[in-house]
Amino acid sequence: MEQLSNKRILLGITGGIAAYKSAELCRQFKTAGAEVRVVLTPGGAEFITPLTLQALSGNPVHQQLLDPAAEAGMGHIELAKWADLVVIAPASADMIARLAVGMGNDLLSTLCLATEAPIALAPAMNQAMWRDARTQANVARLAELGMKIWGPGVGDQACGDSGPGRMLEPEQLAAEAAACFAPGLLAGKRITITAGPTREAIDPVRYISNHSSGKMGYALAEAAREAGAEVTLVSGPVSLPAPARVNRIAVNSAEEMLAASLATLDECDIFVAAAAVADYRPAEVAEQKIKKRDEQMQIALVKNPDIISTVAGHARRPFCVGFAAETEKLIEHARGKLERKQLDLVVANDVSQPGIGFNSDDNAVTLIDKAGETRLAQASKTQLARELVALIARHYENQAT
Ligand code: PMT
Repeated sequence: MEQLSNKRILLGITGGIAAYKSAELCRQFKTAGAEVRVVLTPGGAEFITPLTLQALSGNPVHQQLLDPAAEAGMGHIELAKWADLVVIAPASADMIARLAVGMGNDLLSTLCLATEAPIALAPAMNQAMWRDARTQANVARLAELGMKIWGPGVGDQACGDSGPGRMLEPEQLAAEAAACFAPGLLAGKRITITAGPTREAIDPVRYISNHSSGKMGYALAEAAREAGAEVTLVSGPVSLPAPARVNRIAVNSAEEMLAASLATLDECDIFVAAAAVADYRPAEVAEQKIKKRDEQMQIALVKNPDIISTVAGHARRPFCVGFAAETEKLIEHARGKLERKQLDLVVANDVSQPGIGFNSDDNAVTLIDKAGETRLAQASKTQLARELVALIARHYENQAT
């Protein structure tokens, strides 16, 4: 079920006795690491309470299309965009019929029109209703439209009949949901990524820093999350929004970045240092704003701790990937950092080239390990991050086996 980790599942519950099983399905999704939001139709609410589903999903239950309070929280279009997968379980004959003709007269049917996520239905109804030619035509139409039809199962029914129409069991539905997602290369893995610059205070209003925008580190965080990892992003001060479903820890200085990074090591499989950490900080931070006086002034600097080296030498050492931002002798200097900092991989980044490196949307890098080099041509940081994450995952797997 690792595929469900970090996935967003919209669970629609319509009216039917099988709705009681949806509570267990919701719990199984949550246990597998998915985020769940429940949409309960009025019919569904006759069989199971919103309170039960709220407690199990950890989120408020959505019931009305035209509810100003709910719309102010997460509007229906936002909810439709939020989902990675929509699962309607149980799917009543009525809901199936309304979806087949594209109606949008309640919250759940509207969401199904508005979402781009795959939609799966777990039909549950009396065997005669299931066999009815109109239901069968509706189901065939929905399958033709690309919706997934899971079940129904065959057996004894609550009404006393026996035949097709039982909702599949929660564990079968959870397994079907998991199969909708390719197992991510980093499924179930925990990754910490540092990003952005650090700021080293001179006095209350001034600091030493650099031009890192955080774009590379943030793109890596998104790519790692897409690959199924649980991501912690230790970020210096940048103007980027926190990526969705990533645990961002905001820091300022190198010392703060080190402390935040070390705090993740108990639960960290892979550590990627994309941050541009200031190598030095002022030996003293003036308590008051420094006044302009002499023609020249000097600021004594002391060395900052090396974060990636500290992590690589830690008792709970994760797989360590550093970056090397170089303006000359790219490969030679990067390889030096691989050895000196005892890294598993280093990403050599030529920051002398215009259009790549610091504060640009594109980058071009060379991934270096002890055995060789892989050149990744210029591409957007988003694209490059995906390629890097795939390579990092492969190297991580190879060293683990
Ligand atoms: O943020 P962007 O604008 O998108 O730019 C991306 C980037 C150019 C900053 C990024 O791709 C990059 O190259 N990051 C590393 C920058 C850097 O400071 O490199 P370095 O060669 O000085 O450091 C080598 C490695 O040691 C890096 O992994 C760095 O994070 C780490 N380091 C350095 C100093 C220190 N005190 N602690 C560290 O952990």
